[in-house]
Amino acid sequence: MRKLVIAIDGPSGAGKGTVARAIAAELGYRHVDSGAMYRAVGWKAIRDGVPLDHDQAVAALASRSPIHVTDEAVTIDGYDVTRAIRTPEIDRAAAAVARLPSVRAVLVDRQREFGADGGIVMEGRDIGTVVFPNADVKVYLDASPEERARRRASDPAHTGGPSAVSDVVTLLTARDELDRTRKASPLYAAPDAVVVDTTGKSVDEVVRDVLEVVRAKV
Ligand code: DC
Repeated sequence: MRKLVIAIDGPSGAGKGTVARAIAAELGYRHVDSGAMYRAVGWKAIRDGVPLDHDQAVAALASRSPIHVTDEAVTIDGYDVTRAIRTPEIDRAAAAVARLPSVRAVLVDRQREFGADGGIVMEGRDIGTVVFPNADVKVYLDASPEERARRRASDPAHTGGPSAVSDVVTLLTARDELDRTRKASPLYAAPDAVVVDTTGKSVDEVVRDVLEVVRAKV
C-alpha cells in the first residue's frame, strides 16, 4: 500500500501528540512533532543570547543547527533537550520564534524533507495548510479550552507551570490567540481537513475516529 502523508493540526492540548503517536504506531509510520522543532530553536536562541524577535538571527541559528525529533528524544546540535523544552519559559520562546517568517521557512523545508517519501504522521499548527498542502489525510483536532487545560496540567512531560486548571486555561488561550492571529502561517483548519472535537472522548475513541478518516482515504 502507498505510504501516506498524514497531517494533524490543532491548538495546544487538543491531544495531537498522543493521537499522532498512536496512529503512526498503528500504521508503522514515522511520527514527527513539529512543535518540538520550534521549541528546540527557542531553547537554543535563549542559550546563545539571540533575541527571540530577530528573524534573521534566529533563522541563521536554526539553519546551522541539526535537529532530531523522535518519540524518545529531541536533540539540537547534539544536545538532548527532551525535557528542557517542556517548560513555561520555552512555551513562550517557541511561540515567539514561531512568529518569525524566515525561521518558519527553515523549519518547513526540513519538515518537507521528513515527509518526502510518505509514511509519516506530522503534527503541528500549519501541517495541512503550509507544510503539506497536498497531504493525503488532514485532521484538525480541537477540544474545549477547559479540557485542553486539564490535559496540559496533568501532562507529566510538562513541568514548572501553574497546576490550577483555571490558570492553565488563561495561559493556553493567550498562546493560542498568538498562534491564531500571527501573520506567518496562523493556526486554522485547512478547508479540506476533517475536524474532530475530542472533548469528552477517550484517546482510544479519537484514535478510532482518525483511523476511520485514514481508511476512508485509501
Ligand atoms: O505544539 P507545541 O506547543 O509544542 O508548539 C510549540 C509552539 O510552536 C507553539 O507556539 C506553536 C508553534 N508551532 C507552530 O507555529 N507551527 C507548528 N507546525 C508547530 C508548532
